Amino acid sequence: MAKILIIDDDKASGRTLELHLDAQGHTVTTTTSIDEGMQAANEEEPDVLISDIRMPGRSGLDGLPEFKNRYPHLRVIMITAFHDMESTIDAMQKGADDYIHKPIDLDELDASIEKLLNLNGKGSDYILACDPTKMLTPLTMVGHSRAMKEIFKTIGMVATSPATVLISGESGTGKELVARAIHRNSLTPDGPFVVVNCAALVETLLESDMFGHEKGAFTGAVARQTGKFALARGGTIFLDEISEMSPTIQAKLLRVLQYKEFTPLGAEKAQATDARIIVATNVDLAEHVASGQFREDLYYRLQVVNIHLPPLRERKEDLINLVETLLGRINHEMHRNVSHIGKDVLECFTHYDWPGNVRELENILMKAVALSSGDTLTRDMLPEGIGHGSSLLASELSDAEDDMPSAKSLAEVEKAHVLRVLNEVDWHKGRACEILGVSRPRLRRIIRDYQIEAPPEITPMNDEGH
Ligand SMILES: Nc1ncnc2c1ncn2[C@@H]1O[C@H](COP(=O)(O)OP(=O)(O)OP(=O)(O)O)[C@@H](O)[C@H]1O
Ligand SMILES: [Mg+2]
Repeated sequence: MAKILIIDDDKASGRTLELHLDAQGHTVTTTTSIDEGMQAANEEEPDVLISDIRMPGRSGLDGLPEFKNRYPHLRVIMITAFHDMESTIDAMQKGADDYIHKPIDLDELDASIEKLLNLNGKGSDYILACDPTKMLTPLTMVGHSRAMKEIFKTIGMVATSPATVLISGESGTGKELVARAIHRNSLTPDGPFVVVNCAALVETLLESDMFGHEKGAFTGAVARQTGKFALARGGTIFLDEISEMSPTIQAKLLRVLQYKEFTPLGAEKAQATDARIIVATNVDLAEHVASGQFREDLYYRLQVVNIHLPPLRERKEDLINLVETLLGRINHEMHRNVSHIGKDVLECFTHYDWPGNVRELENILMKAVALSSGDTLTRDMLPEGIGHGSSLLASELSDAEDDMPSAKSLAEVEKAHVLRVLNEVDWHKGRACEILGVSRPRLRRIIRDYQIEAPPEITPMNDEGH
């Protein structure tokens, strides 16, 4: 049975409805204005709203968009008068799920409520459409949004060509997944897929990681090492965080693209490579070109095909699909069978901004599954910020410190730790980089991606400053 909220300025009519629905076993709250109804919705979290249109103050039509916005899963039935076709159409366009005419036919109303509740399966929980026992590989990529469909099409078109592909998108949007999908659909799916993280290593090490080195090529080069370009022969090399490459390595990569050969450090002869090159960036490379940090000629050679993954907040229509897939995967890994998810959880997800994109969603689901004992994910299993769609403010630091770590996702811990270090060094970014062991561009990205904000009394030092 459902929780139903009635808004009708005509008290007698509201009361009649209430008595009838109550007798059907529903839990009913009756209010007489939009504002009162809004407040009740906040407290009661109803499944169904039945609202009159014509009322003094805000009309039912005025209130409808706000209700749908705040409670996307709330089912709304509008009560309209026969002569009022315009407002009926308007109501449906504004997101009403159904309407019933005055005078109200109670059988018609019951049928409408039943139909709306069935849309949601169990009533108050969303039941996952996927078979949670189905084996889903970590490489399954999903998405119904137009942007994702276009991306799948592009992958299909370019996979079998040798063209270099540049994949751009914020952290956690699925860049590596796209790279792997291209590789799997390429002409050499059984060949190696070799990953190089260009931000993880200092220049010399990155260079020898990519191209290899001869014994004695530099201090510490005690033995010959095969580089990743050599390892990737007959397959794909994936250069991640390409914007972090130094000018020297950019020049060498350009040579690889031009001549299909590379020279290991300290070697005399160049070696040929047929590896398919895919690169990824979570910053706007064009901006780096404009500011002189990235070679323009290299940029144009890399972005023969450009696949841009939009942030999750711009394709929330993918959320349910992603939740289903990720939960299926997590269930499989954790030997669980979580198949129901509270509607309020989906509501929180819809309102949240997802700075860490799909990876953040995955972390949150994993943690929630770990916390749940039954087959249902409920709102109290979500981290605090998600309910309110907020970014982490410096004032939240003490909370973050108090209840560290086991129940938190990696992203949350990282966010809190970076913030703590920044505060300890009075936002001196150079010192923070030293403590955290990251480059300045990386710290800048972390601050931006997690939307970490300085407390008002501190003016952040600019990057070059002390
Ligand atoms: N469309 C999708 N369908 C299913 N899973 C996805 C999708 N997009 C991302 N994921 C999952 O989210 C996680 C992050 O994806 P991935 O590592 O590819 O992101 P990324 O853009 O490379 O992130 P980063 O910039 O942090 O390296 C992975 O576990 C991946 O499987
Ligand atoms: Mg990645």
